[in-house]
Amino acid sequence: MISGETKVVGLIGDPVTHSISPNIHNSAFRERGLDYVYVTFRVAPENLYDAIAGIKSLELEGVNVTVPHKTAVIGYLDETDDMARKIGAVNTIKRTDESLKGFNTDGMGARRALGKEVEGIGDKEIVLLGAGGAARAIAFTLADLGSEVTISNRTVSKAEELVAVIGEKTGVKVNQIPQRRDNLKKAIRDSDILINSTSVGMHPTEDETLVEAEDMHADLTVMDIVYNPLPTRLLQEAERAGAKTIDGLEMLVQQGAAAFEIWTGESAPVEIMRRAAQEAMGGK
Ligand code: ATR
Repeated sequence: MISGETKVVGLIGDPVTHSISPNIHNSAFRERGLDYVYVTFRVAPENLYDAIAGIKSLELEGVNVTVPHKTAVIGYLDETDDMARKIGAVNTIKRTDESLKGFNTDGMGARRALGKEVEGIGDKEIVLLGAGGAARAIAFTLADLGSEVTISNRTVSKAEELVAVIGEKTGVKVNQIPQRRDNLKKAIRDSDILINSTSVGMHPTEDETLVEAEDMHADLTVMDIVYNPLPTRLLQEAERAGAKTIDGLEMLVQQGAAAFEIWTGESAPVEIMRRAAQEAMGGK
């Protein structure tokens, strides 16, 4: 029951109405018996400053931040977690008294999702498809863990830029290869993990995949950030190759779990959150 005591968290972005985060978080709050509610706030770019100031004045506990505000928001915070600052994007804000601190749980979500299937991620060789916002959070996080990361992006200049910025900010050398079948096949043969952080395979292009079963092997773990549809064509190909798979809903739930823990200080009920996400996706 919502009462005068209920603590409010939410999502700031535009658009926000399609988000399944309210389903995921409100289920988690119910499960843990926490008097919190998660709502969405559509915020246009010209209102971002006011919206962030509003977290303090309305005493919200915190918010998630999504497109198009993840980068701009950093300028309005009192503090930004080290990794979020390096990534250059914040997707979670926590308010403590009069201070707002920014975090990036996208990379944490990827790490937690991978960690369920793979031990010692920091010792692994990883091929990462894509060089957009999601790839950036994942690449920084994995490079920081010590993994050997090879980025492959359709637009080579964007991959080169990402490699350069990771080198500059962390001192870690990340590799880059063209997104051609022969290059990918060779890199994947020598790798432990393949991650798709592009939108390829997402509805309405669900028939598409950048990598097929023939290019994979049974010792590989394949993670796809796309969660509509489930499983994606890439994960079907991975299964055909005998590889382990981690779907995009797991990563979404794990990044939500990390945000839940930042806000509440309690461990997240991940299984309940995953079930809520699945149910919400069924209704989309
Ligand atoms: P996000 O924030 O979700 O990462 P983004 O920043 O728009 O979204 O990045 C989308 C990623 O998907 C990019 O790496 C993009 O490649 P380009 O940099 O070449 O645009 C990749 N992508 C989208 N459609 C693609 C396609 N048909 N083939 C290959 N890569 C594609």
